[in-house]
Amino acid sequence: MDLRDPDQIFQFLQLVGGFASWSYKSIEDSLRNESLKAKALFRDGILTAMIGYAEILPQKEAEIFFLATHPEVRRQGFMKILLKIFSQGLYNRLILEVSSKNQSALRLYEEFDFKKEGVRPKYYPDGSDALLMSLNCLDF
Ligand SMILES: CC(C)(COP(=O)(O)OP(=O)(O)OC[C@H]1O[C@@H](n2cnc3c(N)ncnc32)[C@H](O)[C@@H]1OP(=O)(O)O)[C@@H](O)C(=O)NCCC(=O)NCCS
Repeated sequence: MDLRDPDQIFQFLQLVGGFASWSYKSIEDSLRNESLKAKALFRDGILTAMIGYAEILPQKEAEIFFLATHPEVRRQGFMKILLKIFSQGLYNRLILEVSSKNQSALRLYEEFDFKKEGVRPKYYPDGSDALLMSLNCLDF
């Protein structure tokens, strides 16, 4: 479902950690001017998994800014469900950036057949590279 509540998005990102560049104000402002949209999966009323992104129109692409599952329910297939829904029928192509050290996310993207498009060497503060990846949704 679409998520438009800045409180829920901010609290979820705080819980997950690692998304410090998203302040409450930046989330609120970006939702208001529609440069940020979010899709979420709830289980028993609890926000379980979320994808934050921007639409790139008219190419009908989406740039994923953040993608995370609640720390207590990881490796139970929730992101696989949400990403599958997100990658089918909504957009022609998804693009994102991921740390070369983020093995969980890399495995997930490989499973979905994301392709590596480029590298930004030593991009993150921990010295890891940023891998630019994309998924052609029309291949499904
Ligand atoms: C990456 C993340 C979103 C995966 O969410 P999840 O709901 O736990 O993932 P799923 O259970 O749907 O797993 C899907 C696939 O991802 C890969 N994966 C997920 N967690 C993994 C782990 N700990 N180790 C290795 N592979 C993993 C596997 O390929 C897995 O498929 P499998 O279980 O059939 O082997 C989650 O670990 C997370 O929120 N991490 C912190 C935020 C983050 O790093 N986001 C990515 C930023 S680009």
